[in-house]
Amino acid sequence: MAHRLFEGKEHAVSYQKYRLSPSEQLIGEILAFLEKKKARPFGLAADVGCGSGQGTICLGPHFHQVVGMDVSPAQLQMARACANASNISYRQCPAEELPLEDGSADLVTAMSAAHWFDRPRFLAEAFRVLRPGGSLALLNYTLDMELQYRDCSQELNHICREFHSALRPYRSAVLGPDSTILYKEMFDSIPYPEKEWHDCISVKHSVPVSSYIGMVESFSSYQTLLQKNPEEARRLSQDVTGRLLTVMKVTSPETEVGLVVKYYYFLARKPDVS
Ligand SMILES: C[S@@+](CC[C@H](N)C(=O)[O-])C[C@H]1O[C@@H](n2cnc3c(N)ncnc32)[C@H](O)[C@@H]1O
Ligand SMILES: *[C@@H]1O[C@H](CO)[C@@H](O)[C@H](O)[C@H]1NC(C)=O
Ligand SMILES: *[C@@H]1O[C@H](CO)[C@@H](O)[C@H](O)[C@H]1NC(C)=O
Ligand SMILES: *[C@@H]1O[C@H](CO)[C@@H](O)[C@H](O)[C@H]1NC(C)=O
Repeated sequence: MAHRLFEGKEHAVSYQKYRLSPSEQLIGEILAFLEKKKARPFGLAADVGCGSGQGTICLGPHFHQVVGMDVSPAQLQMARACANASNISYRQCPAEELPLEDGSADLVTAMSAAHWFDRPRFLAEAFRVLRPGGSLALLNYTLDMELQYRDCSQELNHICREFHSALRPYRSAVLGPDSTILYKEMFDSIPYPEKEWHDCISVKHSVPVSSYIGMVESFSSYQTLLQKNPEEARRLSQDVTGRLLTVMKVTSPETEVGLVVKYYYFLARKPDVS
């Protein structure tokens, strides 16, 4: 069964504003894997569960054509508003039924999204639409992000861990306690002889404290709390913001901190001859 979340308009807006783009480094790893077997120019890239298109636009410069696909009209509306290249387009469709020809894509990717799909059906679709020799790249990040600020990083991270603990009861049960397991299962299940699992690549961003909070607020667990108990949700964010600023000895939530995000991902190549 596929799980539909992230579809509300407000959630889409918070999403667009605060989610970080996967880094150039990570996109670079995916392209390098593709390039091992296929010379540029690359043809079609399919970004499944594209949301508001943060990852989709990073693919634009490298492909002849990029199609971002998502079930949520609200997310797609945001994506279309930010589209910055004529060779990027968006389609509303489920990950389990992609409107693409057999053997048409050089890359099928899902960034922080595949854990929401009906995974066996999505993987079968990805296999169908990939060209022989084309690649599947699935990635996600872990929630244990780290904040860095002068000499108080440890104290900040203590507060962040408490923030995440407070949200844990609202985590969607379909994800289980650790969704790396879902990704490992997908990795093990795919019949591609050439595949690579990458445990952790750390990407450091510099963001205002308010954006770190905004990003956590865009997580599905926070959105669930917000629906159940809006007052408690707001109190929690305000409390965490206040504590972080106190430790940092600053007053402005616009103060920049280092934010280290840890991604894990896998790459797999559909066999050349089928
Ligand atoms: C966490 S967001 C990730 C968005 C974007 N890829 C990014 O990296 O920021 C997950 C997205 O998957 C979409 N989604 C969830 N289930 C889906 C499904 N079965 N088919 C297509 N999209 C789906 C949601 O609408 C949401 O936009
Ligand atoms: C669109 O945005 C992406 C990601 O920020 C960037 O890599 C690309 O160069 C931009 N393209 C254009 C045409 O501005
Ligand atoms: C896709 O569009 C982007 C931005 O306009 C451009 O940089 C890129 O070269 C285009 N890709 C191809 C292969 O035409
Ligand atoms: C994968 O990312 C989503 C946020 O997009 C998160 O809810 C999920 O917990 C992540 N995976 C892990 C390691 O928990």
